[in-house]
Amino acid sequence: MNVLVCGGAGYIGSHTVYELIEQGHSVVVADNLVKGHRAAVHREAKFYKGDLRDAEFLDKVFGENNIDAVIDFAAFSLVGESVTEPLKYFDNNVYGTIRLLEAMNRAGVKKIVFSSTAATYGEPESIPIVESDSTVPTNPYGESKLTVEKILKWSDNAYGIKYVALRYFNAAGAHISGEIGEDHDPESHLIPIILQTALGKRERIAIFGDDYPTPDGTCIRDYIHITDLADAHIKAIEKLFKDNTSAVYNLGNGKGFSVKEVVEEARRVTGREIKAVIEDRRPGDPSTLIASSEKAIKELGWQPRFNTLSQIIETAWRWHSSHPNGYEK
Ligand code: UFG
Repeated sequence: MNVLVCGGAGYIGSHTVYELIEQGHSVVVADNLVKGHRAAVHREAKFYKGDLRDAEFLDKVFGENNIDAVIDFAAFSLVGESVTEPLKYFDNNVYGTIRLLEAMNRAGVKKIVFSSTAATYGEPESIPIVESDSTVPTNPYGESKLTVEKILKWSDNAYGIKYVALRYFNAAGAHISGEIGEDHDPESHLIPIILQTALGKRERIAIFGDDYPTPDGTCIRDYIHITDLADAHIKAIEKLFKDNTSAVYNLGNGKGFSVKEVVEEARRVTGREIKAVIEDRRPGDPSTLIASSEKAIKELGWQPRFNTLSQIIETAWRWHSSHPNGYEK
């Protein structure tokens, strides 16, 4: 299959491109490189630098390639920044995807896998979270992704564009080769920050709150390996070609780990001390987020393979320790 990956130079996108190529697909990547890294793009992928909000750019990409399906990762994804700069998030994440859907319509491409998030749920009503739970985002990032899910639903209704929206929990880890991994600027995610501390690039890791209603008082998250996420996108495309119906799926391991447990496991994996201090809660953090991925397991035939915290941290450590400054800039 010939797959267009928008945002294919970013963290989740670049890993999905690797997986697509490893599974024998042809890949075209479109990325404006505002957040992504050219060096993260697999050498066998055809690369176009440009922005989804540019209709001419998209027509060129679709016109020069016989695209069968699209995977859309292109978005801003910093929750805190989205609260202070909501319009930036709606412009890039929502308007960008509208432009992409318009271009797909012009090109007659009718299948898309969309990168959504657990942030669409907001504060969970029960644990584990299932897809039918209520969606009340507590920040513009989650709202922008939920808005696109709604746009997709109506685009299916009007134009017959079939979609799968994948709601990721906490994406973590790196490709097993150590060639590609996580490199955000600024970095806000827990595991990279812990590993940068292990490398001596930070003095300490701040644990945001130890007074949550959890066994050790720190927040619990469901960490899912990036290659398992990547694999789910390919299974989602296969499903779209098999039954041509739209759907929404959670992607997580169904197991939660506290911030303190993650720090402890990172100390074990790295053999380094990793100084941690307790600080105030970060505003907007729910205490516990754990996915039910039963629907994806059943309907996509998806099964996470790197499903232990040690595998997730070991692969992340392989990347961070071999690329202490991330990708070459
Ligand atoms: N944390 C710390 N110290 C840090 C960084 C994080 O204690 O320096 C804690 C957070 O408070 C949270 C946990 O570690 O409890 C995980 O935090 P991350 O920032 O790594 O991830 P989040 O759970 O906040 O966010 C992730 C994705 C978002 C997505 C969200 C969905 O990164 O893109 O899940 O709920 F929106």
